[in-house]
Amino acid sequence: MNENGVKAIILAAGKGTRMKSDLPKVLHQIYSKPILSYVLDMLSEAGVNSENYLVTGHGADKVEEFALSHYSNLKCVLQSEQKGTGDAVNRVYSFLKDYKGLVVVVCGDTPLITAQTMKEFIEYHKSTASSLTVMSAIFDEPYNYGRIVRDEKGDVKAIVEEKDATPEQKQIKEINAGVYCIDWAKVSDAFLSLTSNNAQGEYYLTDIVSWAVKQNLKVQAYPIKNNNEVLGINSRVQLAEAMNILTQRTLKKFMDSGVTILSPETTFISPDTQIGPDTVILPNVYIQGKNKIGSHCQIGPFSHIRGGANIGDYVKIGNFVEVKNTTIKDHTNACHLTYLGDSELGENVNIGAGTITANYNHLTKEKHKTKIHNNVSIGSNSVLVAPVEIRDNATVAALSVITKDVEENALALTRSPMKIFSNWFNKKLQEFKGDNK
Ligand code: UD1
Ligand code: CA
Repeated sequence: MNENGVKAIILAAGKGTRMKSDLPKVLHQIYSKPILSYVLDMLSEAGVNSENYLVTGHGADKVEEFALSHYSNLKCVLQSEQKGTGDAVNRVYSFLKDYKGLVVVVCGDTPLITAQTMKEFIEYHKSTASSLTVMSAIFDEPYNYGRIVRDEKGDVKAIVEEKDATPEQKQIKEINAGVYCIDWAKVSDAFLSLTSNNAQGEYYLTDIVSWAVKQNLKVQAYPIKNNNEVLGINSRVQLAEAMNILTQRTLKKFMDSGVTILSPETTFISPDTQIGPDTVILPNVYIQGKNKIGSHCQIGPFSHIRGGANIGDYVKIGNFVEVKNTTIKDHTNACHLTYLGDSELGENVNIGAGTITANYNHLTKEKHKTKIHNNVSIGSNSVLVAPVEIRDNATVAALSVITKDVEENALALTRSPMKIFSNWFNKKLQEFKGDNK
């Protein structure tokens, strides 16, 4: 039945009118990652990564450019006119003519479905030898969702959209989450007979349910455990809601694995970050992108980690310290007012307050690397102008501007020597009194 694995169709052609944005909806970001990426990463984590199809329409150029540059195994298929979810899947029909495996259909704007849920969903479909399984959820307020219609035995009969539902059907609380697992060989013919005879004049993907029931194929709904996962993003308010849910989920996972997070209300950590046990996160920390943080570290308060950070054990990142694309080895501290970008820091380094790695050449638009080896001390208020390398045991004096490499064990100092003018105040006072006689 499943010789050819599982492929996915991701629907992302819709306009996202309520976002009121120039940017296609699925490219809006949470933790600097487009919501579409959450869906694509989830599929690959669930093992659905042999060959997937992304249906694009509104903003197709931008969506394709992003998707193809970040994901191999992805084919983009254009739906030039948005005639409905059924028509969207039908755009892929010709690519899957001889395909005999399973097809999972998901929406590109539902970033909260977990790989675990997707795996369980597919497993349920397989173990019950179903021909078509629909992911469902029980909602107290099912308004606007398609409803799962079951017969008196509890068997799924159809999905009816809000706009087409009778008053009785509107009472149904089991909704269609918009995720499907389809035995392609058995069900794909449904797409040849879809019509747009409905309240919205659209080709509904949901109509494949009643089609399959008529063919006496086994159709099931799989109610998921956590309703949060179903949230689709249609507005900026829902984007913020999704970020909040994702954050709570991520923080809980960290706390359960031994990370202290003292103020979850003010802590924001992307799900693509790893953190080792016994690390303490103090209030007001924002961590986006992909990062690795070791054990026994202290991060915060008020730290900003921007992605590409690879931090060892027993490291301290303190207030108003920003870290980007930087490797930091064990027992190194950057406790106050610092920018570390495109840098490599060894073990046991101390970064004084107010240190800046000047990594960006405005003229050439290039970023350059700063390498700081083991046991180095960087004095406060120093600027390290990259590319530059500071070798083992070197000391950079406070207020230095480092433009050349510093050798092992050396002291580098660029400020002018301090001068003392003894009794200066009294002399000035005498002069002042003389002038005013
Ligand atoms: C759909 C389901 C509904 C379900 C809900 C869950 C149908 C007919 N209805 O409704 O039962 O409860 O999702 O969120 O499927 N899209 C295209 N091309 C199109 C139309 C839509 O690619 O021509 C994409 C959209 O970009 C979006 C997804 O399909 O990612 C869902 O479309 P949307 O219009 O939001 O469907 P709903 O009305 O919410
Ligand atoms: Ca929707």
